[in-house]
Amino acid sequence: MTKIAVLVSRQGSNLEAIIASGIEVSLVIADRDCPALKIAHQAGITTKLLERSFGRSFKRKEYTQKITLLLQSNQINLVVMAGFLTIFSPEIFAVYGGRILNTHPSLLPAFKGNHAVRQALAAGVKITGCTVHITTPVVDSGPILDQESVRILPGDTEESLEERIKAVERILYPQTIKNFLTEPQN
Ligand code: GRF
Repeated sequence: MTKIAVLVSRQGSNLEAIIASGIEVSLVIADRDCPALKIAHQAGITTKLLERSFGRSFKRKEYTQKITLLLQSNQINLVVMAGFLTIFSPEIFAVYGGRILNTHPSLLPAFKGNHAVRQALAAGVKITGCTVHITTPVVDSGPILDQESVRILPGDTEESLEERIKAVERILYPQTIKNFLTEPQN
């Protein structure tokens, strides 16, 4: 059986949608105190807060190693990043390569990075969206599993557009995870 961990840093609306879709989540890991932890608690899921530091004191390699060990000690074999804001150092891919999924709020390869919604607005595109992909050492560049488009409306702000994209992600991400789980190699 595939044992799934969901990694979070933010509101947890994608985590909530994943749980509601019937996908069994064994563990939720957060890199900071965040509302997503409450959602996990309320669903009765084991949580682990592995708090990171910021700035020069942050040791990415050590932090990634801690997460990897935590995943391994819980026999996790699929890692689902749902609004997780820490970038891993490459070592994790020796263990979990091809088994870390992510959702990103743009139609990749457009608008990579932490400000995808802002970038789409600044670029003046009329259509953006979300992408579920396999995570690789190069941020937001791994194989695309699925995408959905979202039209940018006149008067959209970063907040309003992000909310509409998240509403689409909450449908696309659970469905894509389910499809991934039923693929022959899984
Ligand atoms: C999502 O838009 C995701 O694409 C981005 O962070 C957001 C997470 O939202 N990486 P939530 O915490 O699931 O509500």
